[in-house]
Amino acid sequence: MSNKIQTLSGYIHEYQKSVQDPDNFWGRIADSFYWHKKWDRVVDWDFEKPDVKWFVNGKLNITENLLEKHLFLLGDKPAIIWEPNDPKEAVRTITYRELYEMVCQFANAMKAQGVEKGDRVIIYMPMVPEAAVAMLACARIGAVHSVVFAGFSAKSLADRIEDCQAKMVLTSDGNFRGDKKIAVKKVVDEALENTSSVERVIVLKRTGHEVIMKDGRDIWWSDAIEGVSKENKAEVMDAEDMLFILYTSGSTGKPKGVVHTCGGYMVYTTYSFQNVFQYNSGDVYWCTADIGWITGHSYIVYGPLLAGATTLMFEGVPTYPNPGRFWAICDKHQVNQFYTAPTAIRALQVFGAEPLKPYALDSLKVIGSVGEPINEEAWHWYHDHVGKGKCPIVDTWWQTETGGVMVSPIAGVTPTKPSYATLPLPGVQLAILDNDGNELKGNSVEGNLCIKFPWPSILRTTYGDHERCRQTYFSSFKGYYFTGDGVKRDEDGYYRILGRVDDVINVSGHRMGTAEVENAINEHPKVVESAVVGYPHDIKGQGIYAYVICDMEGRSEENLKNEIRETVNKIIGPIAKPDRIQIVSGLPKTRSGKIMRRILRKIATGETSNMGDTSTLLNPDVVEEIIEGAANVS
Ligand code: PRX
Repeated sequence: MSNKIQTLSGYIHEYQKSVQDPDNFWGRIADSFYWHKKWDRVVDWDFEKPDVKWFVNGKLNITENLLEKHLFLLGDKPAIIWEPNDPKEAVRTITYRELYEMVCQFANAMKAQGVEKGDRVIIYMPMVPEAAVAMLACARIGAVHSVVFAGFSAKSLADRIEDCQAKMVLTSDGNFRGDKKIAVKKVVDEALENTSSVERVIVLKRTGHEVIMKDGRDIWWSDAIEGVSKENKAEVMDAEDMLFILYTSGSTGKPKGVVHTCGGYMVYTTYSFQNVFQYNSGDVYWCTADIGWITGHSYIVYGPLLAGATTLMFEGVPTYPNPGRFWAICDKHQVNQFYTAPTAIRALQVFGAEPLKPYALDSLKVIGSVGEPINEEAWHWYHDHVGKGKCPIVDTWWQTETGGVMVSPIAGVTPTKPSYATLPLPGVQLAILDNDGNELKGNSVEGNLCIKFPWPSILRTTYGDHERCRQTYFSSFKGYYFTGDGVKRDEDGYYRILGRVDDVINVSGHRMGTAEVENAINEHPKVVESAVVGYPHDIKGQGIYAYVICDMEGRSEENLKNEIRETVNKIIGPIAKPDRIQIVSGLPKTRSGKIMRRILRKIATGETSNMGDTSTLLNPDVVEEIIEGAANVS
C-alpha cells in the first residue's frame, strides 16, 4: 500500500510533511478509505476545551472499510485464524467473506433484539472470533461497544454497565483459560442484579457451563442468529460519531470511559498497523493481547482487519499446556509478526531457552512489545531467543487514550536500541515539559511526556464527563495533552519511556489507579485506612504494595491479609490483588493530611537509606516503624 514507509529517509520525509502540513498529510491517507461523503475539513481542534474533530462532516461506516472493501480481492483469504485454549481442539479459520456474513447476520440479530444506533452494548466475552464479530456488528449498526475484560469482577462490570447505561450485554456461558474453566454468565447475572438499563443478554455457548437463562432477558447466540439474513446495509455514521467506549484507570476515582470515534480511529489504526509492523499481503500477524484492552481493539481487530491482514486470535494463556505454547503457535501458523507484552516475555524467560528448542521460529520477521517499559534484559532475551537476532523489535509506546501506537520503531526501518521506543510516528508531535510547564528543547533531556498537536485517534472525551477529560489530560500543561508518563530523550533524540509519574501503576501491563485499589481494600470492614504504591517486580514489572491500618481484633495477620486480598478480588478482580500487604499503625502524612507516597514508594522499593526531607510530617516516628516492619512483609 502506498502509505507504507520503507526507508529511514522516507520516514524523515513523511514525518516532516506531517508536521508542516497535517491537513494534506492526513487527508491524503484518509483518501484511501471508502467514505459515503468526504470531509469538509481535515481537523478542527482546541486543546483547552478540549475539542478535537477529524474529517469534519465526513460520512462512513468503518465496517465497510473492513469487509466490503476487501471482499473482491481478499474474500477467500483468512481474516481471522483462531487458536483455541486447548491445542487439541480444532483451529477455526474465518475468511473475509465469512466474516462479512457473520458480522451482517449478528448485526441484524442485534437490531431484531432492539439495539439501535447510539445504544451502548457491553461485550464481556472470551477470546473467540464471535467477540470480534460482536464488536464489528455494533460498529455496523452504529451501536457503541464497550468491551470489558472478562477477568473483571461482577462489581467492576456493573459499574461500567451503569456508567454507560448499556442496553445489551453480549457474553458466553463460560471461558477457558489454561486449565481453568470460568463461569462467565454467572458474573453477568450478579452484575445485572444491581443495574437496571440492560434489556437483553445474548449468550454464546462455549464451555457448556450450566447457566440460568432469565426469561424475557436472556437469549442464546445460536437462537438469536437462527434464520437471520447475512446481508446488512451498514449504518452511515458521521466521522465523529462514537465508535466505542473503553474503561481505563486513572490516578483518581473510578475508571473512566475513554471515547473513540469512527473516522480518525479508522485512519490512524490502519496507518500505524501497516507501518509499525510492515505487514505484507499473505503474512500471518499475531497480537497476544486480550480484546478487553485497547491493544486488542486496535491491533487484533480494527487495525489488521482494516488493512486486509490475517490476524491470529488466541484464546488461552502462554503457559498452557506448557511454556512452549507461544512458540508452538508461531510455528504451527507460520506467524510473521508477533506482538506481546514484556510481562509475558519475562514470565517465559524464567523457563530458560529449553521450551523454545523444539521450534524453528523461522517465519518470524518482526517482534513487538507493548504495555509497559521493557527492561534491557528482557529485550535482549526476546531479541536473541525469539527473534534469533534477525527480527527487529518494535517497542510500541501508546495508551488507551491515544487509540494507536505513538512512539515506535518502524520495523526494519528505524534502527532500534534496547528499551527505547525510539521515535514518534508521523503526525505525532511530542514535547517534553519540566514540572513548571517549560518545554525542554534539544537532546539529553528528561521530563513529562506531552503531545502538542492532535493525531486522528486521540480520545475525544471521557463518557458522560467531559470536564474529567479536560482535567485529567489537558489541564496539567496548558495547550498540551499530558500522557502521565515520564520520558527521556537521549543524545540521539531517541525516546525512552520511564513509566508513570502519577498515581497509576502498571501491573503485568494492566493499568491500575492506586486510589481504586485503596478504595477496594477499604471496603473490608476491619480496614481503617490504606495506601497503595507500586514496587519493582521481576515478572509483573510493578507489583502492588499495600500499607494497611486495621483493627486486628479476633484475627491473625495472615487471615486478615487473605481476606483483604479476597475483598479486592471481589471488587475489582484478581489482577488487582496486592502482592504485599503490610499492617501498619499509621501512615506518613503531611500537616494538611496528605499521605506522603514518596516515602511509601521508597520503603516498598527497599531504598531506605535516604528518605529525603521528613520534617514536614505530622508523624515522623511512623516512618521508622514502617521501615522495620517492611523487612518481614510477604
Ligand atoms: O505507562 C505507559 C505504559 O502503559 C500506559 C498505558 O496503558 P494502557 O492505556 O492500558 O495501554 C496499554 C497498551 C497500549 C502508558 O501510559 N506503556 C504502554 N506501552 C509502553 C508503556 N511504557 C513503556 N513502553 C511502552 N512500550
